[in-house]
Amino acid sequence: MQFQNRICQKLFEEHAAVQALLQRIEQTIAKHRNDVPDAKDPLLAKLMTDLASELPGEVERHFAFEEAELFSFLATAGNVGIGNHLTYEHGVIRPIGLALVKLIGEARAQGFDAARWAEFRKLGQQLSMSLGPHAHKEDMALLPMLEDMMDAEKEAELYEKYVLQHA
Ligand SMILES: [Fe+2]
Ligand SMILES: [Fe+2]
Repeated sequence: MQFQNRICQKLFEEHAAVQALLQRIEQTIAKHRNDVPDAKDPLLAKLMTDLASELPGEVERHFAFEEAELFSFLATAGNVGIGNHLTYEHGVIRPIGLALVKLIGEARAQGFDAARWAEFRKLGQQLSMSLGPHAHKEDMALLPMLEDMMDAEKEAELYEKYVLQHA
């Protein structure tokens, strides 16, 4: 998929990046379905580092931008429903992410035992099942709608705010 609107394209790329991260969670969980891995296992350690940085970092920044700028833009243009729905989903996803990051902190300090690994698998699965479909839904519904409705001036303003100032 390719968007003319640079905000849409940027969010689309961020969705793809988060789907790749979720896929790594799925793979790791599947690989250690029947054992308890060492928290220092290089692939798992890298996954935990990325999750602990991305979830409170780029993922939260992405959510906050959608809520503050995009859903309000759509609401002003007469569509309140989609923003309310996607904000509700952010509210479901955020606490799962927070709990996962907290657990990662514990696992890094004390390693995994059976209970902690079961909790990691549960939260990882919940994150994947909530954030994956959410990002997909935005690709299919939100981004095309924004591309149709946003004029060049608004696009430039938001691109400055979200992409250029962050570079
Ligand atoms: Fe979102
Ligand atoms: Fe998004």
